[in-house]
Amino acid sequence: MATIMTEIQERRARRALDEAKDVPREVVDRLLNAAHMAASCSNKQPWRFLVGDADPVRQTLRDHLLGGNYWAQKAPVLMAVATRVSDDARLDEGRDYAPFDTGMAVAQLLLQATHEGLIAHPMAGFKPGPLKKELGLPEDVIIFALIAVGYPGDESHLSDKHLESEHSERDRKPLEEVASREAFPYGSE
Ligand SMILES: Cc1cc2nc3c(=O)[nH]c(=O)nc-3n(C[C@H](O)[C@H](O)[C@H](O)COP(=O)(O)O)c2cc1C
Repeated sequence: MATIMTEIQERRARRALDEAKDVPREVVDRLLNAAHMAASCSNKQPWRFLVGDADPVRQTLRDHLLGGNYWAQKAPVLMAVATRVSDDARLDEGRDYAPFDTGMAVAQLLLQATHEGLIAHPMAGFKPGPLKKELGLPEDVIIFALIAVGYPGDESHLSDKHLESEHSERDRKPLEEVASREAFPYGSE
C-alpha cells in the first residue's frame, strides 16, 4: 500500500535545481494549497506566503539570499514564508503557536513538492531585515524562511560539500534521543 512515508523518505534538502525548467502555475498552486490545508491552533492559519515565480518578486527574493545559498539563485521559484505571533494563539508558558503552525504548513508544502517530483528546499540563509524593509512589511512580521523550488537539474556547479550532501545518507540522531515512552528524552541537562 502506498503511504505518505514514500514522500517523507524521498524528501531531501537537495540543491541541484534545473533553472531552465519552469514550474507550472497549477503545480505551484497545489503546493500552496497543501500548505494551506495544514492544521493550526484554533484554525488561525497564521502562515503567509510570497510567491516568486516571476520577476520582480523572484528577483527581490534572490537579491536577499546569503552567499552560501548561491545554488538557490537558479531556482525557478522562490517563496518567502512569514507569520506574526499576533495572528495565532498566544498561550501561557511561551506557547506562541504562529511559528509552530507555519512550520506545519511548510512541511506539507515540502511533501507535496516531493510528490510532484520537485525539490523544495527551505532556507534560513537570507537577509530578513533588508527583505522586510524592501517589501514594506511591518515590524512584527517574521519572515522565517525562503523556499527554493524547482525540478532536479545539473549538479556540476555545486561546491564539493554540497555535492557530497546531494548524495549523502540521511543524517539523524538515533530515535531514542528524541522520543521515549518513559520520560521526555532531555537526559540530565
Ligand atoms: C528552517 C530551515 C532552514 C534551513 N536553512 C538552510 C539554508 O539556509 N541553506 C541550506 O543549504 N539548507 C538549509 N536548510 C536545509 C537543512 O540543512 C536540511 O533540511 C537538513 O540538513 C536535513 O537534511 P534533509 O532535509 O535532506 O533531511 C534549512 C532547513 C530548515 C528546515
